[in-house]
Amino acid sequence: MEIKGHRRPFHELDVDVLTMVVFEEETPENTPIMGELNERTNGIVGSLIASSELRGKPDEITYIHQPVAMRPRRVLLVGGGKKEQSTSEGVRRAAGTAARYLKERGLKSMGFFCRSEWALEPSARAAVEGVLLGLFDVGTYKTQEKDERFLEEIVIAAEGSLDALERALHRGQILAKATNFARNLVNEPSSILTPAELASRAGEMASRFNLDIEILDEQQMRELGMGALLAVARGSDEPAKLIILRYVPEEPRADQRSPVAFVGKGITFDSGGISLKPPKGMEQMKYDMAGGAAVLGAMRAIGQLRPPVPVMGIVPAAENMPSGRAQKPGDVVRSLSGKTIEVINTDAEGRLILADALTYACQLGARRVVDLATLTGACVVALGSVYAAVLGNDEPFLAEVIRASEAAGERLWRLPLDDAYRDQLRSEIADLKNIGGRKAGTITAASFLSEFVQGIPWAHIDIAGTAWLEEKKPYLATGPTGIGVRTLVHLAEQLGQHHPSPTEEG
Ligand code: BES
Ligand code: ZN
Ligand code: ZN
Repeated sequence: MEIKGHRRPFHELDVDVLTMVVFEEETPENTPIMGELNERTNGIVGSLIASSELRGKPDEITYIHQPVAMRPRRVLLVGGGKKEQSTSEGVRRAAGTAARYLKERGLKSMGFFCRSEWALEPSARAAVEGVLLGLFDVGTYKTQEKDERFLEEIVIAAEGSLDALERALHRGQILAKATNFARNLVNEPSSILTPAELASRAGEMASRFNLDIEILDEQQMRELGMGALLAVARGSDEPAKLIILRYVPEEPRADQRSPVAFVGKGITFDSGGISLKPPKGMEQMKYDMAGGAAVLGAMRAIGQLRPPVPVMGIVPAAENMPSGRAQKPGDVVRSLSGKTIEVINTDAEGRLILADALTYACQLGARRVVDLATLTGACVVALGSVYAAVLGNDEPFLAEVIRASEAAGERLWRLPLDDAYRDQLRSEIADLKNIGGRKAGTITAASFLSEFVQGIPWAHIDIAGTAWLEEKKPYLATGPTGIGVRTLVHLAEQLGQHHPSPTEEG
């Protein structure tokens, strides 16, 4: 698909369909662009508004077939909600809704007009992201009824400099393709996407996007002492892998030479192990590597955008299965950090593999770390599929991560990581146990992880509720969302730009 920028007035765009966002309460009289649109549609827009058929509500769609005084052969109006509340997430959503609607009708080229109410960079970028994310197809293995209709050309029209517009479109494409790369990995069945296959796809990606890669096998992990990670992998016939990607900038900023590490949970299938999960919904547990996929997606984009800060991407990949060799409740494992862990429930496996991966990130010299994981069912209960949870040990760094998520259009909500929760992890036999009981499951999981970051600024993002969409939306298919990719990329770019915070200096 081709994506182009244009500064032409909307009526001159050479496309099948012109897409325009309409806000609530807009009329041809109170909004000049609606006035013009009304004239060029021979009064249709005004009469649709007058009859309340067109109200500008989010996801509302109005399709006009024969506009008269313009080059596009159709006009698609997408509701944008309240004008004062318009954000780039709204643009992403409107563009996604439009692209999905038009693709279904077999149209080939789509124009999208960026309203002058929006700032150029975030809106043009969000429009491209919305289109590419909206068109993502989850039917990889369909041999019949496969949808063969594609949009071939997208033209984004905006006022302002063409240069700035084209830069925004370029960034939008990189971010959206990285997100779709992650979604594609998450969508794969676990029979195909084993830990070894995940590592091999990471390898292909690394060589294509100029990243260094190292893959540790079980023997190497044993020599290093990664007892927690290996304990999880024991029950499976698929050997575990530890994927380590490195992006090294050509010219790092003087104060940014120590890397930030992104660590993602890569459980390619979570059966629960000996603490076996109930059958209902177990098929979904192929998405338990969504954190790892997000890290790989982010590294892909970082390899293209090349910010001036070194970044490591670490993905512990394993399958959690029951077998005669599997770890059992009551086992005590020794983690890479030296801390011992009593395994009460083998289904709390994510924190075990992350414990060793986080320690390893510190050993490799990370000075800040973010981990992403489909870690707890409790997070799904607390925040549903709208917000991901974020917790951490450093206020300025958390603020930085939340700022990045806002730029990315991904919603994070903070939960308290108070020392008082640590008591729930106390074990009689070992340094800590791997579950903290029924209360505050997302927080005790984070509290567990905090034991393995050696005091460096760290943020943990629980994406259990947000990595997989159970019902499709007008702007997004069901299935993998790719959550986290864009937040991590924005974070890396932010860290490359701004002044170090007090903790970074200290
Ligand atoms: N992968 C699951 C968490 C999960 C649940 C992700 C639902 C996505 C949707 C994780 O490994 C797990 O099983 N967690 C347990 C922890 C419990 C045993 C303390 C959970 O949340 O039930
Ligand atoms: Zn589990
Ligand atoms: Zn899991």
